[in-house]
Amino acid sequence: MRATAGNAAESVSPPINKTFTTMPLSQPVATVDAVELEIMTGLARTPKQISPKYFYDQQGSELFDAITELDEYYVPRVEKEIFSAHRDAICEAIGEGVTLVEPGAGSCEKVKWLLPDLEPSAYVPMDISGEHLQASASALKAEFDELTVMPQVCDHTQGIDLELPVEDAPPVFFYPGSSIGNFEPDVAVDFLRDMRAQMNGDGGLLIGVDAKKDTDVLHAAYNDAEGVTAQFNLNVLDNLNNLLGGNLDSDKFEHHALYNDEQGRIEMHLRCTEAHAARLAGHTIRFADGELVHTENSYKYHPEEFVELAEQAGFEQSQLWQDNRGWFSVLYFEPA
Ligand code: AVI
Repeated sequence: MRATAGNAAESVSPPINKTFTTMPLSQPVATVDAVELEIMTGLARTPKQISPKYFYDQQGSELFDAITELDEYYVPRVEKEIFSAHRDAICEAIGEGVTLVEPGAGSCEKVKWLLPDLEPSAYVPMDISGEHLQASASALKAEFDELTVMPQVCDHTQGIDLELPVEDAPPVFFYPGSSIGNFEPDVAVDFLRDMRAQMNGDGGLLIGVDAKKDTDVLHAAYNDAEGVTAQFNLNVLDNLNNLLGGNLDSDKFEHHALYNDEQGRIEMHLRCTEAHAARLAGHTIRFADGELVHTENSYKYHPEEFVELAEQAGFEQSQLWQDNRGWFSVLYFEPA
């Protein structure tokens, strides 16, 4: 889930030309009031919660990029290995003349694993951050000048309303990076269903899913020696201060990440190191010594567990590719 929040609602801008829009097509994203309500509701819960989408301000996005370079965080490395080893088979499974749609596309880097071999009719990167999307889409267009690129600004976690730029080019969703693991399983099914609903019997879903594995490997991936993941986790407090006005003090919290075997997920929390009160959006929030604020879940799925979720959303599995340790899965689904 690569998304920032807090953008005011934007109006719909029509595409400027057929092959590339210098103004991304926009759909309304959350208003400041909705962001405040979501954050304050989470902090009023017991235990307190902050949605992981608030990790990704500028600083958080840079820290996440740094995480993806860490030795311990195997996810991008192993996923890329799978794409390199199986690119031909993956492109063959998807077929020609599709519209490749990437929710949360961010920097539009991973699509290059498929281009130019895939030759889609169009590419629709989606992201909540219009400026970033605009820049990434322009850079991609400069590199692949034949490609029709139609960026769409939207919060894909709030539903998908796809505008297809090319007729008769069915949508194939591309959702790499195991971002699906950051949704609760029932919400993941809803999101898969949203994608499925955009397919008129034709189309597909290419998705990267992190697998269950040795707990020590998982623990290290979210507790790196350099403390980058800790900074990423703590930075969410600075982002909330910036979004809503406040004095949440990241020096009074520490990073806490563990693998919850029963739930099959990594949990990230911020642990309060001394009892104190802070202000946010004009409210006082009290934290007890040792109190945990839950910031993220990252679910890990055996391939067959994930296939079951996708089946609930109306997909059937067509292909599965894995690395030789079975640490990560890339799956291709078609509408059932
Ligand atoms: C974006 N997402 C798939 C990452 C994950 O592994 O769940 C976010 C992350 N959190 C800590 N490290 C990476």
